[in-house]
Amino acid sequence: MDDAPLDLEAKVRLLTGATMFTLRGEERLGLHPMAFSDGPTGVRGLDFTGGPITCLFPNATLLASSWSMETAAEVGSLLAEEAERQHIHVVLGPTVNLHRSPLGGRLFEAYSEDPLLTGHLAAAYVSGLQSQGIGACVKHLVANEAETERHGVDSVVDERTLRELYLLPFEIAVEDADAWSVMAAYNDVNGIPATEHGPIVNGILKGEWGWRGLVMSDWFATRTAGPAANGGLDLVMPGPDGPWGPALVEAVRSGEVDESVVDDHLERLLRLADRVGATGDGRTWRTDLPAPGGDVRREQLTRLAASGMTVLTNDGVLPLAPETSVALIGRPAIETTCMGGGSAAVRAPHQVSIADGLVEVVDGVMLMDGVAVRARPRAALPGMFTVPKTGEPGMRVRMYGASGALLADSVSAEARTVGFMPDQELAEPVARVVMSAIVPGGAMRVGVLGVGDGTVRVDGTTYDVHLESESDDIGGDFLRPPGWQTDVVLDGPTKLVADLTLAGWAGLGLVAEPTPPTDDEAIAAAAEAARGAEVAVVVVGLTEEQETEAFDKSTLALPGRQDELVAAVAAAATRTVVVVNAATPVLMPWRDEVDAILWAGLPGQEGGHAVAAALLGTIEPTGRLVTTFPAADGGSPAWDVVPTDGRLVYEEGVHVGYRGHAARRAPAPAYWFGHGLGYGEWEYGEVSLVAPSPAPIVQVSLVNVAARDSREVVQLYLQPDEDDQPIRLIGWTSVDVPAGQGATVRIHGDPRACRTWTDSGWRPLTSGRLYVARGLGDLRGELELTR
Ligand code: BGC
Repeated sequence: MDDAPLDLEAKVRLLTGATMFTLRGEERLGLHPMAFSDGPTGVRGLDFTGGPITCLFPNATLLASSWSMETAAEVGSLLAEEAERQHIHVVLGPTVNLHRSPLGGRLFEAYSEDPLLTGHLAAAYVSGLQSQGIGACVKHLVANEAETERHGVDSVVDERTLRELYLLPFEIAVEDADAWSVMAAYNDVNGIPATEHGPIVNGILKGEWGWRGLVMSDWFATRTAGPAANGGLDLVMPGPDGPWGPALVEAVRSGEVDESVVDDHLERLLRLADRVGATGDGRTWRTDLPAPGGDVRREQLTRLAASGMTVLTNDGVLPLAPETSVALIGRPAIETTCMGGGSAAVRAPHQVSIADGLVEVVDGVMLMDGVAVRARPRAALPGMFTVPKTGEPGMRVRMYGASGALLADSVSAEARTVGFMPDQELAEPVARVVMSAIVPGGAMRVGVLGVGDGTVRVDGTTYDVHLESESDDIGGDFLRPPGWQTDVVLDGPTKLVADLTLAGWAGLGLVAEPTPPTDDEAIAAAAEAARGAEVAVVVVGLTEEQETEAFDKSTLALPGRQDELVAAVAAAATRTVVVVNAATPVLMPWRDEVDAILWAGLPGQEGGHAVAAALLGTIEPTGRLVTTFPAADGGSPAWDVVPTDGRLVYEEGVHVGYRGHAARRAPAPAYWFGHGLGYGEWEYGEVSLVAPSPAPIVQVSLVNVAARDSREVVQLYLQPDEDDQPIRLIGWTSVDVPAGQGATVRIHGDPRACRTWTDSGWRPLTSGRLYVARGLGDLRGELELTR
C-alpha cells in the first residue's frame, strides 16, 4: 500500500461504479473491487440474464407471511451463501417499501403494508446476511411505493406519515441490525430527488440515527453532481459513466462541494469494503456450499415457502389425504409463477410446478389446463428449444453492428437476452440481432420479443414483425419487452429464426410454447374433470405481467377468465379448493362458493413441492396475511398510483392498509392484515397487562384445541385514545403448541410503534385500548391501557 494521499480525481473516481454491478479497486488504499448483486429473492450475479444458476427463493410477501424473524434471518444467511458462491460482496436487498396501494407492481418484492412487521423482518434478514460478512442494501429510501413514472415522480408525504410509516422500516433496519448500505430511490420526496435528499439522508439517516453506512443510488437514478454529493449520496451506480466524475471534481474546485464531503463518502465506501472483506488481503470465499438445485436447498426452500402459505378459508377439506382423487386445474398449476419480474428475477436451477409437486405425493391426480393467464408473449421456458446443429439447450444469438460486422456469436441457455449492456465490450453498438433455435413439433405458438423491425421465419413462412417501444421507463422495454407471436402447426422439430433490427434497449427473446386450448374448451373440460373427482383443486394467479418492477397494476381482478373458471368448477365439483399463485391481493368474487382457499405467493424454485406439502399438511401453512385484501377494486384507503402532473400525493396519510380500513376510510376488506387460519384451532384465555411502558407488555394464554400440533401468531394492536391516531400493530409473537395443549406467551410492544411524530418531535402514546387479535377481523382479547 502506498501512503501518498489520493488526489481529488482519484477519490472521485471511486465514487462511481466501474461497471453495471462492480466497483473500482485502488491499490494505494488496499481496496479491492467490490461486486454487488440483486436481491432480494436470490443472488442473480453480475448479469441481468444468462448468468450463473442460483437459488430462487420464495418471494418477499410469502416469506413475510411467516411473521418470523427466524425465517427472515435464515433467508439472509442462505442468501449470503449464494453470494459467496458468486463472489458477491453486497446483496441489493431487502426491499422495505410499504404496500401502500395494492396496485403497486413491485409489492411482491417488499414485505408488508405494516412498517413494524417490515422493519423487524428486514432487520433479521440484514443480520442473517451480515453475520456472514455479506453486506445488505436496504432499499429504496424512501416513499417508493409505486412504479408509474418511477424515475421522476414526486411522492408528496407529510412528515408525520413519513416518520411513522415509510421511514420506520429503515430506522429499525439501521438501529437493530446496522445495515451496511442503503439505496436511494428513483423518485423525489416532497420536491427533492431522493438521491439529493439532504434532510432525509444527512439529517435523519446519518444525523439523527447516527448511521455510518454507505448510501448508493438506485441504478441510473443520480441526476446531479454537487446537489447529490452534498445531499449525502455516497456512491453513484452503475458506472463507468455517470453524473459525477469530472463534474464532481469541478464542483469541489468551484467551492460548491467541500472536499471533506467527498472524503466522507470515501470513508463510508472504505468502511463498507472493510466490512465485506474487500480490503487488505481480500476475502476468502467459501467453497463448501450446497448446490442451488440440490437436496439441501430443496428442503430449506420448500419449508420456507410452505410455512408462509396462508389458509384464507377452510371448511375442513384441507389438509387433503394423499389418497384423495384430485382434479388439478389451471394454467398456473402447469406453469406456476415462481418469481416476479424485473431486477429480482434470477436464473433458477428449476421451478417446480404445482402439478409436478402434487403428482409426486397424491396418488390420483387428473391434470387439466385452464384459461389463458397472460396477455403478452413471453420468452420460451427452458426445455422448449435447442441450439441448431449442436442440439444443446438454448438458442443461438448473433449480434451485428450498424456496419454489418458480426460482433458476437454465442449460445444463450435462456430464451431471453440483452442486446446492450454498458459493460459489454463490443466493437460497436449492437444494431441487429439474429436468434435461432429448434422448437418441438406439433401445434406451437412461436414469436419474438424485442423492440425493432424484422422477420420471424419458421417452417418456410416469413412473417414481418414491427415491435414498438411500450414504455418511457429507462428499463421498461428491457424488463417487459414488447412481443409478437403466432400459432403454427409443425410436422416435427423445426428451426425458428428471428432477425430484428433494433430500435431501442429492450429485452430480446424467442417465444415457443405448445398452443394452449381455447378458454371455452378449457372451462368445459375443467368442469367435466371436476365432476369426476373427490376434490377439485383450481390454481389461479397472477404472473410476472402484474408482479413486476417498472409497471403498476390497474385492477386486482385475476387476469383472463380465471374467475369464470373457478365458478364453473365450484358449480360442478363436490369440493373445491382454490390455490392462489400470487404475491399480492387479488379479488376473489367466488370466495364464498369454494371450500378452501390457500394463498401460495410466488413460491420460488421448490414451489410445487411447497404447495403440495401445504395442501397435504406435511408442512403446516402457518401464514398470516401481511397486507389487507380489499373486497373490490378501489376498496383500499390508498388506491391510485398514477401521478397527477408528476406528483403522487399520499393523501391518506397514516391511514394505510388496515389502519385505514379500521378507521372506516375504506369499506370492510375481504381479508384483514394478520388473517390466516393454519390448521390449528385456538381458544384464547386470559389476557393481562404485564407492564404499560415504555411500551405495553401483554401476557396471553391460549389452547390449541385442534387434533394436530400447530403454530399460532399472537398479534397485539394498540388503538390510541386520540381521534387522529389509527390502530396499529405494536408487537407479535409466535408459539408452537402440540394438539390439545396450552401455552402462555408474552408480547412485547415496540416503543417505535407506540409514538407519534409532532412538530416538536416524537411523543409517546400511553393510553388507549389494546387488542389481542388474529387480524382485526378476529379479536380475541381486549385491555385498557392507561397512563
Ligand atoms: C431497481 C433496484 C435494483 C437495481 C439494480 C433498479 O432498477 O430499482 O432495486 O437493485 O435496478 O438492478
